[in-house]
Amino acid sequence: MARDIHALISQMTLEEKASLCSGSDFWHTQPIERLGIPAVMFADGPHGLRKQGDGRDDHLGLNESIEAVCFPAACALASSFDPELAKKLGSTLGQECQAEGLGVLLGPAVNIKRSPLCGRNFEYLSEDPFLTGKIAAAYIDGVQSWDVGTSIKHFAANNQEYRRMNCSSEVDERTLREIYLPAFEEAVKASQPQTIMCSYNKINGVYSADNEWLLSKVLREEWGFEGYVVTDWGAVNNRVQGVRAGLDLEMPSSGGVNDAKIVAAIKNGTLDEALLDQTVERILKVVFSYVDHRHPEATFDRDADHEKAVEMETECAVLLENNGALPLKAGAKVAYIGGFALTPRYQGGGSSHINASKVISALQSAQVKRRNVIYTEGFPSDRDEIDPDAFCAAVDAAREAEAAVVFAGLPDIVEGESYDRVNMKLPACQDRLIAAIAAVQPNTIVVLHNGSPVECPWAEDVAAVLEMYLGGQGVGEACDRLLWGEANPCGRLAETFPLRVEDNPSFLNFPGDGKKVKYAEGVFIGYRYYDTKKMPVRWAFGHGLSYTQFEYRDLWLSSDKMDDEGTVQVNVVVSNTGPIDGKEVVQLYISDKTGCTSRPTKELKGFAKVALRSGETKTVTLEITARDLSWYNEDIDDWYAASGKYEVLVGHASDDIQLSGELQFTTNKIPPMIIDGSTTLSELMDNPKTAAALSQILRTTFGSAATENATSTESKDATEQATIFAMPLKTLANFAAMGEEQYQEMLNGLRSALHQGSINH
Ligand code: BGC
Repeated sequence: MARDIHALISQMTLEEKASLCSGSDFWHTQPIERLGIPAVMFADGPHGLRKQGDGRDDHLGLNESIEAVCFPAACALASSFDPELAKKLGSTLGQECQAEGLGVLLGPAVNIKRSPLCGRNFEYLSEDPFLTGKIAAAYIDGVQSWDVGTSIKHFAANNQEYRRMNCSSEVDERTLREIYLPAFEEAVKASQPQTIMCSYNKINGVYSADNEWLLSKVLREEWGFEGYVVTDWGAVNNRVQGVRAGLDLEMPSSGGVNDAKIVAAIKNGTLDEALLDQTVERILKVVFSYVDHRHPEATFDRDADHEKAVEMETECAVLLENNGALPLKAGAKVAYIGGFALTPRYQGGGSSHINASKVISALQSAQVKRRNVIYTEGFPSDRDEIDPDAFCAAVDAAREAEAAVVFAGLPDIVEGESYDRVNMKLPACQDRLIAAIAAVQPNTIVVLHNGSPVECPWAEDVAAVLEMYLGGQGVGEACDRLLWGEANPCGRLAETFPLRVEDNPSFLNFPGDGKKVKYAEGVFIGYRYYDTKKMPVRWAFGHGLSYTQFEYRDLWLSSDKMDDEGTVQVNVVVSNTGPIDGKEVVQLYISDKTGCTSRPTKELKGFAKVALRSGETKTVTLEITARDLSWYNEDIDDWYAASGKYEVLVGHASDDIQLSGELQFTTNKIPPMIIDGSTTLSELMDNPKTAAALSQILRTTFGSAATENATSTESKDATEQATIFAMPLKTLANFAAMGEEQYQEMLNGLRSALHQGSINH
């Protein structure tokens, strides 16, 4: 029987309603016993359960939580390019939550990787909003399939840790709409997360927690969000303005202080009680959606879920380089070097930190499987320090083996929640040892454990590089499978590895001065920038190798024309032409050829991960819509694609396009034209409605012959023509010595020509 939440609210006192607007403690919502409203518990997320109890609560992962399974962190998850896998992860976590009595899991975290230096990038998915949105939506579907809520976070423009609690992200609306909001938009529209967590920071001077434009206009009115907005822990600014703006729940508890402010504001008439009722209704809907749908059959089987963690990480790891050294040959004598072989780094620090149920290292895995592996530490995994004896022993071991695997990575202290990285380098001791080993051992393989790109100065000197990211507690076993060919790598980079951090487009404006950070690079972030500037990078967005090969042929579109309402299917034939089974990630990018505005060379608008047996061929179909061609046009406050030509590019990676097709797009959306003194003659000539009227004005002012010469497409003097057409009406009036009356007459004449038969005013 459905709950009558309205009836429940009508029985509440004002104080009771206000009390529901903040937590009862660090991790629970407020109960009201007399009305049968229970407390519901939260836990972090996103890649495992951080369920804390007995009063030892914190939002930085400082105190122990229950033993749980640590799955691949988001940096790895996104590299799977596999929404099905994200859904499976979500569903595993959803079941674990039901078994543990958790009503809302705090994740996924979908902030876009603006700079490789953001300390929390390991917890975020990608530099690309399209990929981020698809993975996030699937994760939410998975968790919520168990009637457990998610809290997609941190809404919005929280792309650094430095001064994250007060800094203002200064971003223009087009950039917000195209880069920093679409993952939230996709998740809300496709999967309705039960809650959304607003970020600590300000956006263009307004705290997210107070931001009516963000929390009400965009999130609810435009996207149709039905759940409640919760603060990031401690992110409330002005509690009463928060209610007005659309902020529902404050976490953790304010000890009643802020609830009293809500009550006072209603009593003194500065806050409408109807807004409070709405907030309470949203919170209760989510509370009861959990309470009324408990799953007594749910279990938290740590061993079974550990196996899932291993399988998932196997699908996430990215093979970045391979000259044939991988997979390792059965029986080969291999030197394992580096502390991470023994104690892998598999998660980042902060609120997502999991008390992992078990961790089996790559070295242990190799030993269990009786591989011919010898281990030497070479360098410590927790600091940058060279011990000359350990260094030489590692070089000797590498020289004497048939291959050397260096387990490199970032120490915990280098990246984590609350602080950013200061550079993009591995500890110098690691770079030096890798270079020394590569000099004596041609089969040198580097395995990386990091949450964000690192500079790899030795990349061209080693035989192979395998990026494991922060792969969760299954990382060691997954690594073993991939190194020795028991599994075929199939991850793809969800972010660019630039050659140097200075190449990153945000470099000059990251992390700002503590008060403000300017997103001056606009929409040109990640591959959108490197690609458009034709800059070399270490490894491009979408890149990833396999132990088999794939071939593309026969790209065809269901139609080569499209309009605002239409969709087009893009088909391509992909074959596995290599010796073993594998998975290819087919990627579709759109390139705007209309020249209408400044846009990235290409943007990801579709992808599919396809399993292909050796010798197998499949046809892959991806769909595109007008939105996929569009940019956010602030003049019309809407998505807009100009009429004209678009290229559809399909291939292995952003830097490895195999096939392309062409699409002719026609739109009915005509950006409104405002005619005033700054309107140029060329704008008026480009618009069929004003072109004739302008020619007439020019003829009257300058005479027919001169006008003919200036407007004719055959005009000999291109420079003169360009100069004339660049002129705004104000300047034309000056040259023609028009009086004020004549000038106004000209403007009015052009305006009425524009509006004749037009619906756009
Ligand atoms: C983090 C959130 C987290 C919350 C609760 C905050 O500091 O930013 O991501 O969910 O703490 O631990």
